[in-house]
Amino acid sequence: MLRLGLSQAHIRRGLLSSAAKSPRLLNPARLAPSLSHQSTAGMKVLAVLYAGGEAAKQEPRLLGTIENQLGLRKWLEEQGHEYVVTEEKEGPDSAFQKHIVDAEVLITTPFHPGYLTHDLIQKAKNLKICITAGVGSDHVDLNAALGKGIEVLEVSGSNVVSVAEHVVMSILLLVRNFVPAHEMIERGDWQVSEVARAAYDLEGKVVGTIGAGRIGYRVLQRLLPFDCKELLYYDYNPLPEEAAKAVKVRRVEDLKEFVSQCDVVTVNCPLHEGTRGLVNAELLKHFKKGAWLVNTARGAICDKDAVAAALKSGQISGYSGDVWNVQPAPKDHPWRTMKNPLGGGNGMVPHYSGTTLDAQARYAAGTKSILENYLLNKPQEPHNVIVGKKGYETKAYGQR
Ligand code: NAI
Repeated sequence: MLRLGLSQAHIRRGLLSSAAKSPRLLNPARLAPSLSHQSTAGMKVLAVLYAGGEAAKQEPRLLGTIENQLGLRKWLEEQGHEYVVTEEKEGPDSAFQKHIVDAEVLITTPFHPGYLTHDLIQKAKNLKICITAGVGSDHVDLNAALGKGIEVLEVSGSNVVSVAEHVVMSILLLVRNFVPAHEMIERGDWQVSEVARAAYDLEGKVVGTIGAGRIGYRVLQRLLPFDCKELLYYDYNPLPEEAAKAVKVRRVEDLKEFVSQCDVVTVNCPLHEGTRGLVNAELLKHFKKGAWLVNTARGAICDKDAVAAALKSGQISGYSGDVWNVQPAPKDHPWRTMKNPLGGGNGMVPHYSGTTLDAQARYAAGTKSILENYLLNKPQEPHNVIVGKKGYETKAYGQR
């Protein structure tokens, strides 16, 4: 079936191979030799994670928290390394900015991003490797890291199913007008027409993904049984013909044309120079009136104010996702409360689609595996490397 006969390029992109779920299954002959590195004993490993509070004390599987520390403390300390874990990430007095000066390894997560800016990279005298516990390394200034020979790796594939499921859920909750219907029930009201007036079937609609990589492709796979009118994608890296055929997706090469054909647009590309503000006031004008927009990729890909205005005017009927231009999002962020003219169309949640307990187990194990390779001076698995010593090792962070 689908998994058979895919091209090597397709497998490398991790669209379908088991490597995405289980990175260690990759053939060692394909490991990247340029990444070998002699590490020092007694190094400082700095991790910026979020405070999990009571929940993290009660639930040890919340591994991405300062309480549970990705399960790495004992393992690192037994080897004589110092492990500093903090949630403090903003300002010169934060533990992040103090410890970055002499840390050799930095671990961050996209859920509570420690923003490793150009300036901080200049101060990080000892930094050799940044590991993203998860997927998406835009919170690191990748060009600055490259300039200083700092490698940037992520646990590719670790949470792509988790996000794809969230995308499908978000599409459905917008199209079916679920949130206002549930709120009505909580309020004690019952007026079916009020919510049914903005509820549709997904069947027969055109759905398109900006980015058809690991997540985008999995979204398409999951949408196939919904009998949409058409599935579309926009990506400068075309899918292999066979992969496209398997999900019956058509490529549209012009972005304005692409959005003008979609009832639902889902954003599944990384944030980089070429995607920051990609969905802005100008592009939103080309959307079908009343389309739905789902973004679980990165908040800054969509212009905050343009999206809020388009929803308010009814140019789009709904916006849903879990990613914000600043995280944690300020209390008065317009995306928390924005609504369409009928009082619905907001499916926003905090950044958690890629941090289910299942995903946390995978990205904690993947982080350890990257660290282990680093410590043992073993080559890293190529699909985890975003920036290597000599350049970008991925084609997903922009055309260069
Ligand atoms: P991937 O690297 O497998 O695929 C990304 C695709 O986007 C590639 O095919 C690439 O060519 C395409 N792309 C890049 N720039 C583009 C552009 N300008 N226009 C159209 N397509 C473009 O990455 P994956 O695993 O699918 O993840 C995508 C992104 O999703 C991550 O970079 C991250 O930002 C986000 N993400 C969000 C999570 C969450 O919890 N909300 C969790 C995991 C990932």
